Amino acid sequence: MDVQFDDLIRSALKGRLQAYAPYSKFAVGAAVQCKSGAVFTGSNIENISYGLTICAERIAISSAVAAGQREFVAIAVVADTTEPIMPCGACRQFLAEFSPDLIIVSATVDGNRKIENLSRLLPGPKRGILKNVHTP
Ligand code: THU
Repeated sequence: MDVQFDDLIRSALKGRLQAYAPYSKFAVGAAVQCKSGAVFTGSNIENISYGLTICAERIAISSAVAAGQREFVAIAVVADTTEPIMPCGACRQFLAEFSPDLIIVSATVDGNRKIENLSRLLPGPKRGILKNVHTP
């Protein structure tokens, strides 16, 4: 399926408007494009107990999975930085659960953008995990 990166980035920008980031003041938006064509957005949700913070990427994916989607083509991430940001390690593992070959398009609010593939950022995400137990 073709991904309209501009549209997905626009959705991520919309998602970013819902960011709850009173501690870092760093608002992040994400939008995931499902194989079905549906798009789900997310933003970071922080907590006074900082470690409980959830990144925008995981919120977008969780929102999609909650709606019955499990196959993803691409995720857009947007933040107000000079260089596009890339998902943190925890998010990479979380994304790889469903789509190890996910396309990641990251954009700055100014329009600077970078395209990556999750398989390059996190190779072998299931290797050595639950080795002797059933693997999905
Ligand atoms: N954050 C995201 O939501 N996504 C990223 O890719 C990088 C970091 C959030 C977590 C925290 O709320 C804030 O950005 C500062 O790290």
